[in-house]
Amino acid sequence: MTDAVPNYTDYLKLGQLLELQGGLENDEQQLIPDELLFIVVHQALELWFKIINRELRLARDQLSAPTVAEETVPHVVHHLRRVNRVLELAVDHFKVMETLTPQDFLGFREKITPASGFQSSQMREMEILLGIGSKQRVRYGKVDPIEHLEKLAESGPAGACAWARVQAVQTEATFQEALRGWLYRTPIHGSMPTDPDDDAVVSSFIASYLENFNGFIDRQCDKLKASMPDAGDSTKRFAESKASAAAFLYAEDTSPEDRPRLQRTRAGLLFIESYRTLPLLAWPRLLLDTVVELEQLTLIWRNRHARMVERMIGRRVGTGGSSGVDYLDQTTKIRIFTDLWAVRTVMMPKDTLPPLKNPEFYGFAK
Ligand code: HEM
Repeated sequence: MTDAVPNYTDYLKLGQLLELQGGLENDEQQLIPDELLFIVVHQALELWFKIINRELRLARDQLSAPTVAEETVPHVVHHLRRVNRVLELAVDHFKVMETLTPQDFLGFREKITPASGFQSSQMREMEILLGIGSKQRVRYGKVDPIEHLEKLAESGPAGACAWARVQAVQTEATFQEALRGWLYRTPIHGSMPTDPDDDAVVSSFIASYLENFNGFIDRQCDKLKASMPDAGDSTKRFAESKASAAAFLYAEDTSPEDRPRLQRTRAGLLFIESYRTLPLLAWPRLLLDTVVELEQLTLIWRNRHARMVERMIGRRVGTGGSSGVDYLDQTTKIRIFTDLWAVRTVMMPKDTLPPLKNPEFYGFAK
């Protein structure tokens, strides 16, 4: 028996793929061109979600090893950068969608009710893989997106498959957990969490950082007061920013049991961001930049989708029953990597940082 010679059509399963745009009628000929476009854009984005979820799993797996070798970090960055490029491309799909006019969309919108992107299990999979917390998830009325998918499992095989996908991902570790574990192990002034005097090194780093930070804020405040004698409220804001920097670095927002771990994790994050020009920290800082970019791009995607929806249906109720654009706008406030955003508020210029100890550890050895 001879091996079959590969050909383009068979390899890409184009026969099956091009049969999948028949809509509810299962017959593409019965669809107006606008509806075919509507289906294809959704399917294209679902394929991209598939790639995103695969890359996120690869990035998470590499970062969640008990010790992550230095040469592994570029691989993690590689997977995340691919996610970012796909997200940028995904945003552009809405331009194509906008060639559909509001009136033409109304021509077939009614028949697809109550189907909605709200039921996209791959979108939920992406959110869960990234590490969205239950508190961060937006509900409309009492409808929780995950519970909604659970109910959909009763609607037939496709609903059951979507729910199985979401159930499975809920048992997996998240990228956020992997990232936190890795940040926790950041060497601070050359000290590792397993070193006997690590607690003292970390405490001293946080204390000296805050001391310099307070001085930095005081200088800004004095400058403002000198140029604006009635700067009452602003003075208060400067005082608050000192208090919130301390609350962040001392992890006052978590339970006393979890506090030491979160303190060290945030200290690791701050250390990478502050001493980012050190050779050993070059890839770690790129990793953090890439995660921030990823979250920024998901927010841009959400916002771009909401603006496209507003252009298409105004302030109408969504086919999924939500308040439509109002609901979507609420989702643009979701933040998963909250610490990566928060650390920006407590950063300082290079020349105000506490002096680096053990510089040779970070690649300056002669
Ligand atoms: C004419 C085009 C579109 C309109 C009018 C539209 C409208 C809406 C509305 C109103 C919602 C809120 C839930 C609801 O009540 O239905 C929603 C959610 C959603 N849509 Fe679209 N959409 C469009 C195209 C797309 C496309 C092309 C995608 C790509 C996959 C998409 C993916 C989603 C997702 C993932 C959600 C859930 C968002 C979340 O809960 O965070 N939509 N859409």
